Amino acid sequence: MEIQTSNGRYAEVDVQALAVAVFKDEKADEGFLKELDSATGGLVRSILESEELKGKEGETAYIHLPASGGGLKAKRLLLVGAGERSDYRLAQVSQLAGAAVRHLRVRSVKSVGLVPRFEGADDAARVAAATVEGALIGLFEPDKYRTVEKEQRTVDRFVVIAEGADDEALRRGAERGRVIGESVNFTRDLANEPGAYMTPTIMAQRAQQIAEEFGLEIDVLDEARMEAEGMGALLSVARGSEEPPKMMILKYMPEGKTSIEDGEEYLALVGKGITFDTGGISLKPGENMELMKYDMSGGATVLGVMRAVAQLKPSAPILGVVPATENMPSGKATKPGDVVTAMSGKTIEVINTDAEGRLILADGVCYAKKLGATKIIDMATLTGAVSIALGDVNTGIMGTDQELINEVIEAGREVGEKFWQLPLDKEYTKQIKSDIADIKNVGGRKAGTITAAAFIKEFADGVSWAHLDIAGTAWGDDAKPFRSKGPTGIAVRTLLNFVERATRAASDVQKQDGQK
Ligand code: BES
Ligand code: ZN
Ligand code: ZN
Repeated sequence: MEIQTSNGRYAEVDVQALAVAVFKDEKADEGFLKELDSATGGLVRSILESEELKGKEGETAYIHLPASGGGLKAKRLLLVGAGERSDYRLAQVSQLAGAAVRHLRVRSVKSVGLVPRFEGADDAARVAAATVEGALIGLFEPDKYRTVEKEQRTVDRFVVIAEGADDEALRRGAERGRVIGESVNFTRDLANEPGAYMTPTIMAQRAQQIAEEFGLEIDVLDEARMEAEGMGALLSVARGSEEPPKMMILKYMPEGKTSIEDGEEYLALVGKGITFDTGGISLKPGENMELMKYDMSGGATVLGVMRAVAQLKPSAPILGVVPATENMPSGKATKPGDVVTAMSGKTIEVINTDAEGRLILADGVCYAKKLGATKIIDMATLTGAVSIALGDVNTGIMGTDQELINEVIEAGREVGEKFWQLPLDKEYTKQIKSDIADIKNVGGRKAGTITAAAFIKEFADGVSWAHLDIAGTAWGDDAKPFRSKGPTGIAVRTLLNFVERATRAASDVQKQDGQK
């Protein structure tokens, strides 16, 4: 899709359809809508007065304008409900753009102009970014392997329209939005792939491709190197599979920087890459097991973020770590009761082989520390329990650094991704004490999401750490007006915003230091 921007008059933009935000209970007799109403010969007023559209989020009304006459170059108009004006933020802009393109593409529209009507001229770049990102995310469909009745993909030109906005800022924002939207969809595409098409080897190839295309340093650890590093927890999960495990290491360095100094802050993102989770010897029931192809979503999120970071070039270095393996039962598979030793030297009694995510993350976190990470955010489809607690609305967040947790929550709020913190008191660690080893990999029926985090915490000592349990939010069972069902790419946008906010804060500090 070609992406363009316009700071001219919306009426003059040469597109087939114009999509316009309409706020809740807005009337056609003043301001922006008055003008639009007269350009459409009173059609806007008649729609609003008929109450066909009340301006609620996600609502739409679609009109064809007469071929001759009228004040708009576009001959089709889509009014899109934007909700309360006072609640209208960048997250809403993004969803509105997604809803607009999803609505128009099934009507065979090839070019769309979108008027987000976001006030605050200095935000032009951010508005353009949110709009483009929302449109790209809205157009993604998981029907890759359909040969018939594929979802329509007709929109091939998209124009963000913000009259009077700074042209350069609009373009810069649209480009940022393109990078982010494409990276979210990259993550969704990986998560959507069936297990046979997304083995650890294939996932590592995809990581290699992005590293080459966008310029990231990459290292992929094979089994021999995992053994040399003592990654007994990860290897114990891989034992049952014919597919060799891989650990992907991606490094982003800002321009001119070649190494990490001692004591320098270094953020690592660590993502669970179980390319298929059968449960292992503690086999899962067959019902819905096909969904376990998305058990590498945390890893896919890390790759999506690194893919974007390589293009957006923040001023701080970032490390991406993705331990990847299948979790399969076989004659060689790890058995309940086996004891394995993680890279840190901690011994783990494997009570349930289906609690494999925390095992591979343990070694992922240890390796990130070995590479110098001082701050770690891990993400994983870790527990079914998080969907029981929070459903598909909030991602569970826990950790040891409250400031870091707050920053992630706030970064998420800005982009429309919700996080809810669960407590991680030290009492929970009692539940994972083992009789024969240092710890065990399950903590019983109570507080399953928390005891999983408590397990990872055992390996995150000495660093600032936050953990995201995305099991409930990485997959959407239902389509929304602004996105398809299936993989959501959750947390990619939050983490990119987190990195951006941190970079901005750091440069503010530098500026202040300069003034002293
Ligand atoms: N991958 C699953 C968690 C999961 C469940 C993700 C449903 C998405 C949807 C994880 O490896 C797992 O099986 N966890 C177990 C842990 C239990 C054995 C302590 C679970 O949640 O049941
Ligand atoms: Zn499992
Ligand atoms: Zn799993």
